[in-house]
Amino acid sequence: MSRQNVHVVHRLVVVACVALIGACYGVASTPAKDASTESGDRRTAVPLPAEAQQAVLHEMRQMLGAIGGAMTAAAQGDTTALIAAVAPATTAAAADPAIEALLPAEWKELAERTHGAFDSLTVAVRRTRGTPALKDTVLVRLAAISGSCTACHETYRVTVK
Ligand code: HEC
Repeated sequence: MSRQNVHVVHRLVVVACVALIGACYGVASTPAKDASTESGDRRTAVPLPAEAQQAVLHEMRQMLGAIGGAMTAAAQGDTTALIAAVAPATTAAAADPAIEALLPAEWKELAERTHGAFDSLTVAVRRTRGTPALKDTVLVRLAAISGSCTACHETYRVTVK
């Protein structure tokens, strides 16, 4: 390769590098798109401050735990454990009003209904304690509660603002 050609190749390499760096920088500096929207997630986004989002997700995990604990206790016919398992999901344990104020009205309605269903599950457990009806009662009510979980999960997602 002549000295002249080496020079041209060198210049081309430099130009390519600058273009590449520019492209990368361009991508990096583009505002991040909402990945959920891009993936076809059509649920309504509910933007919350980080702390409130964490509190909401914590409450969710408590409800999932309550369902699991309730199934285990019901299978063993242990009503005391059943009532204890459900307690963290009842209205008394619901999110604090400051967080509720940040949520859409329909969300609050669904959430109240769900917590209320755990309240009435507790009442039903007390009523059927020691009877053969206990397991079926719990099963039917947990099935209904699951429907509420699913309805809301199909409607909303949370984001951090
Ligand atoms: C009123 C609305 C609503 C109801 C009712 C509801 N959820 Fe959720 N839940 C959500 C939203 C919104 C998310 C976040 C989903 C997302 O951003 O993709 C969530 C997330 C969760 C998560 C994930 C938590 C985490 O740490 O990421 C669990 C577990 C969960 N829910 C369980 C339940 C269970 C069990 C029930 C029913 C007993 C329930 N949820 C009822 C709205 C609801």
